[in-house]
This record gives sequence, C-alpha cells and structure tokens, in this order.
Amino acid sequence: MKEHSEVTFRILRFDPTMDHAPAFQDYKLAVKGALTVLEGLFEILENQDGSLGMRYSCRSAVCGSCAMHINGAYRLACETQIRHLNSRVITIRPLAHLPIIKDLVVDMGPFFEKYKRIKPYLEASTSIPDKEFIQSPRKRKRLNEIIDCILCGACYASCTMTLTDPEYLGPAALMKANRFVQDSRDEITRERLAIVNDENGVWRCHTIFNCQIACPKNLNPTHSIAQLKQKVIINRLTGRL
Ligand code: FES
Repeated sequence: MKEHSEVTFRILRFDPTMDHAPAFQDYKLAVKGALTVLEGLFEILENQDGSLGMRYSCRSAVCGSCAMHINGAYRLACETQIRHLNSRVITIRPLAHLPIIKDLVVDMGPFFEKYKRIKPYLEASTSIPDKEFIQSPRKRKRLNEIIDCILCGACYASCTMTLTDPEYLGPAALMKANRFVQDSRDEITRERLAIVNDENGVWRCHTIFNCQIACPKNLNPTHSIAQLKQKVIINRLTGRL
C-alpha cells in the first residue's frame, strides 16, 4: 500500500437498544505512514461519526481493551498498523461470543466471571516475606510462557467451545489457572485442579489451537490447558484428587 492512500473502514455497527440486527457501515479514511487501526477509529469518531462505540485505554498493547476482529483475525487495534494489513478495506467486528453493548464494545462480564472462578491470585498460607516473595530463576522460568496474558479476550472470542458451551471456562481463565498451578509459591494446587477438572473445565477443550493463533501476545493457552490436563490425570492416578 502507498504511503498516502484511502482505505475503507467497514465496521459492524449495533445498538441493541435501537437496532434489530448488526449491520456494516463504511467510512472512507486517508491513511498516512504508520497510522494504526485504533487511530483510524479515532479519526472516524472525531471527524465523521461521533456515535461510534469503541473501547481502548493504554494505546500501547498493554491493557487489552482494544482487542477486536480486524480483517479476519483477532488483533489489538492499537498495535495494528493499517499499512501492514495490506488491504484497501479494513473489516472490523467486536469480540465474538460476548454480548454487544454497542458497536465494538462488548460486555466482558461473562469473561471476567469465569476468570474469577479460577481464583486469579496467589494463595499462600505460610509465612509471606515482608518484602519480595521471590522464586529461584529456574522456578520463575516456568511462568515465562504464561504470565504475560493481558486479558484482552481474543482467545476467548476465537474459541469454538465458548460459543457452544457458554459455561466453559475458556482459554484465558484456564491459562491463568495454570499460571498459579505452575507457581511454586502457590499452595492450593489441588483446589485449582479440582476447579479445572469440572465439567466446564479443561475437558471441554478440543485442542483446536484457535486460542494460540489469536493471542496477540504470542502466548499459548492450548499448551497451558494440556499441562493442566496432565496434572489432573497424574493427581487422579496418585489419589491426590
Ligand atoms: S488500548 Fe490497551 S491494548 Fe490497545
């Protein structure tokens, strides 16, 4: 795509208080240099259509608020440059499998309800040091591939099981459960494994890898779920669960 060119933002619009069904609306936009999709949405919001509903916060790929479906993939709008999409039409939808509040803003309530169910905090009953609660570099390394989740919901929206089984905990909550199971400081591993061994837990995952593909942080929820399954099986075979 040339440095200066025009693109069409094709945005799914829906206001459940007024509309019968979602419908796409087109906006033309001049693109210069490294304009991101989020900046393109700002441009529309400020100069073309102030009624557009969207969510963002950090603008630096940290808060996860701007996750949306952009040209066939879940991405963070704030880190996606329009020129890298290499397309004159940018089709944008909100996260799937969550109720639309307005346009690109979905209700994250069901997502965070499931997140809460896995107790997303460290539980340590023994003496917690006053200052740092450190681990050895070797033990900390086990968390490297799972700790950077920003809870954007891209994996959740990409997962077919969260659509077919609304009670399924989903990849983000399960990966977070694994983050604590793998943490040597956490002391409620068996309780955590019992939560994910529930009928709405790890066994609902069909290992389709959508979540792994969707994650904008290149994390691997599928692998976390496999690790949890393995832990559950070992604990069951040894009578600890
Ligand atoms: S605005 Fe925070 S991740 Fe995009």
